[in-house]
Amino acid sequence: MSDAIVEVKHLKKYFQVKNGLLHAVDDVNFVIPKGTTMGLVGESGCGKSTIGRLILRLTEATEGEILFEGQDIRKLNKKDMRQMRQKIQMVFQDPYASLDGRKSVFESIAEPLIVQKVYTQKADLEKRVYELMETAGLAKRLVNSYPHELDGGRRQRVGIARALALNPDFIVLDEPVSALDVSIQAQVLNLMEELQQRFGLTYLFISHDLSVVKHISDQIAVMYLGQIVETASSKELFARPLHPYTQALLSAVPIPSIDYQQERIVLEGDVPSPINPGKGCRFAGRCRYCQEKCRQEAPVLKDQGNGHMAACHFIGK
Ligand SMILES: Nc1ncnc2c1ncn2[C@@H]1O[C@H](COP(=O)(O)OP(=O)(O)OP(=O)(O)O)[C@@H](O)[C@H]1O
Ligand SMILES: [Mg+2]
Repeated sequence: MSDAIVEVKHLKKYFQVKNGLLHAVDDVNFVIPKGTTMGLVGESGCGKSTIGRLILRLTEATEGEILFEGQDIRKLNKKDMRQMRQKIQMVFQDPYASLDGRKSVFESIAEPLIVQKVYTQKADLEKRVYELMETAGLAKRLVNSYPHELDGGRRQRVGIARALALNPDFIVLDEPVSALDVSIQAQVLNLMEELQQRFGLTYLFISHDLSVVKHISDQIAVMYLGQIVETASSKELFARPLHPYTQALLSAVPIPSIDYQQERIVLEGDVPSPINPGKGCRFAGRCRYCQEKCRQEAPVLKDQGNGHMAACHFIGK
């Protein structure tokens, strides 16, 4: 396996809220090898975007290490972090919200190049912007268009061109296709894969939808209420989901795209609050296999063989 580009150790992010301490990310560990994609999946509010934001240091961690090429980015000073930011980029779910509506396609893509003072000559800047547009599959004629004049797919391509401007090594893709029509989703996913090949990019691909991350991911981590409950290669996870939560998520994936087939498992019970979580398994209240032990003791991630980790007291029992 190739070298790790990103490694996260015991990462925690707690938010102080009115009713207590909200455990948005609660002791998360993972390694992403260079040139690969890790899919990060889970329901709304489980902490996916917070992990992405922590890696970009858009929000500061409460505890833990975030190693980028072996260096803990939490320890970098402002100047070194500015350098580091060039290597780490993010693409957001809703390009309409993430792009500045008053900026043309040209201005949006040129902005990071101008901020980082990459070119001294205007002609070089223009050349680079056109090159990035071509790379992201945007026709030249759109250069003076504004976000509201573009469809969702093209807007997301502008977001992608912008993210590529400074030749990053690693990109956090936060639900990059969730706001797009299904027909356009596939085009944008194909583009992401093509760019990964071409530039040797590493991705953290965030989605609430397992079927979206299946093909693009080398490994997948499933999150539940701030914690990773299962992680495996994409192939292994779809063939042998071990955690009851993953099984429920998978059962909701449309049949033609899954290898593992079973009846639809409807999750019952409320999603518990991430504020002051109790001592037991966080999934206990919705789990159909829940036993007394689960209410008393939180399971930890255990090696289940074949590079597969899962956190449940009753796997194989
Ligand atoms: N700045 C903040 N202050 C307080 N709580 C926050 C803050 N940001 C996030 N949270 C909380 O942290 C938890 C995780 O949020 P996060 O946005 O990471 O979830 P997510 O998995 O990305 O969800 P979604 O699929 O809806 O995007 C949620 O309970 C959210 O309400
Ligand atoms: Mg999110």
